[in-house]
Amino acid sequence: MRSLSILPVTTDDLPFLHAMLYEAAFWRRTDDRPPLSAALRAPELAVYLDGWGRSGDAGLVARMGDRPVGAVWVRRFRDDAHGYGYVDESTPELSIAVTREHRGCGIGGCLLAAMLALLRLEGTAQVSLSVETDNPALSLYRRVGFTPVSDLGATEGAATMVRRFAPG
Ligand SMILES: CC(C)(COP(=O)(O)OP(=O)(O)OC[C@H]1O[C@@H](n2cnc3c(N)ncnc32)[C@H](O)[C@@H]1OP(=O)(O)O)[C@@H](O)C(=O)NCCC(=O)NCCS
Repeated sequence: MRSLSILPVTTDDLPFLHAMLYEAAFWRRTDDRPPLSAALRAPELAVYLDGWGRSGDAGLVARMGDRPVGAVWVRRFRDDAHGYGYVDESTPELSIAVTREHRGCGIGGCLLAAMLALLRLEGTAQVSLSVETDNPALSLYRRVGFTPVSDLGATEGAATMVRRFAPG
């Protein structure tokens, strides 16, 4: 049996993170996904990984054996440049994806749990994300304690959700 490990992101993992960002942005099973490189150059996606390694960036990669199968990462944004799930400058925004052939086996849940534990340990008050309201990931987010900050689907079929951590 191959081992499953969850380890911190290194700079060698960046191409995989880009592939996972693409999977998260184009999660629907359609044939009309744009080419990966063009899609990731769009400013609204580039903001999630460009200049990776700045203060507040943190990520985990799940591997089966030596093969990456999923990733979760968080990034702090500013009012003037941020992702879809932005709440404020002190709230990191979380992104997650698992390779198609490995979904539904618990890997995403493990990655989420590990990242939430890390954020709690470092004293983060809350973490946010953005999810389209027809994405099945929504039920996973609810299960680990994310709640919508406003009416589901209030913004073009997407919701910003927040997971708050009880003070220490
Ligand atoms: C969302 C995602 C990271 C979850 O990872 P996973 O390893 O499939 O998740 P787990 O096996 O731990 O848990 C399964 C949960 O994820 C949800 N899920 C979302 N997409 C799924 C898929 N393609 N296959 C199976 N489950 C999926 C299920 O609804 C399930 O929730 P439930 O148990 O409450 O019904 C993964 O399915 C994925 O990469 N999806 C495409 C990218 C994406 O949508 N990212 C999030 C953007 S906001």
